[in-house]
Amino acid sequence: MSVHISAPKGAIAKTVLLAGDPLRAKYVADHYLESVELVSQTRNAFYFTGNYKGKKITVGTSGMGIPSIGIYSFELYTEYEVDTIIRIGTCGGYTTDLSVFDLVNVEIAASESTYALNAWGIEGNTISYQGNAFNVINQAAKKMEAQDTKFTTRVATVHSSDVFYRKIKGTPPLAAATGCIAVEMEAFALFANAQYLGKNAATLLTVSDIIPTMEMISADQRERALLPMMELALESAIQL
Ligand code: HPA
Repeated sequence: MSVHISAPKGAIAKTVLLAGDPLRAKYVADHYLESVELVSQTRNAFYFTGNYKGKKITVGTSGMGIPSIGIYSFELYTEYEVDTIIRIGTCGGYTTDLSVFDLVNVEIAASESTYALNAWGIEGNTISYQGNAFNVINQAAKKMEAQDTKFTTRVATVHSSDVFYRKIKGTPPLAAATGCIAVEMEAFALFANAQYLGKNAATLLTVSDIIPTMEMISADQRERALLPMMELALESAIQL
């Protein structure tokens, strides 16, 4: 048990997939895991542990934003001895070079957030993925692309923003300066925690909207839209 997760020690796997939305975590558990157990529901942040192709995996909830994933990922790494966290989330595209449904494996997260500096004394506004999960995802993506030509995964720098609604339209200055092609709200804190603790962290995103054109995945497409990301994350997790 940790401050925000009520699972007993040992009930969380060494590899954890973290979704922002608790119901997305439940969806992964219901559709992909066998012998599943709900191991924590404190604050409705569901954590399920089960088997995927024989490997013990936990899928849980990070909540939205840097402070929230900062808390959950820290407790998972330190209280539950988790080795690897793969965040599975959505992002908004800053460019029409991206299409809705594209997958992005985050190489670098750029942020205006002071989280990394205040928590760990990590300076600068960019932090990269940590450990081998990023490369394992790229290898698994290549295999999936070979089987399904509609499937594309890009490697990119993304903006981990504290802001969802803003006055000024267009790409924010830090995102433009660091070459971010998309925006989400969590990877920077996950990578900061993993860097400080010497753990493995990756972030896999589905492009849910294209900001300049306001195109977005419709409500009825949303459930199916996230399946390739879930499958890629699970196929990667079994190799870690
Ligand atoms: N901003 C931040 N996070 C997001 C967005 C966005 O526009 N779309 C999906 N996740």
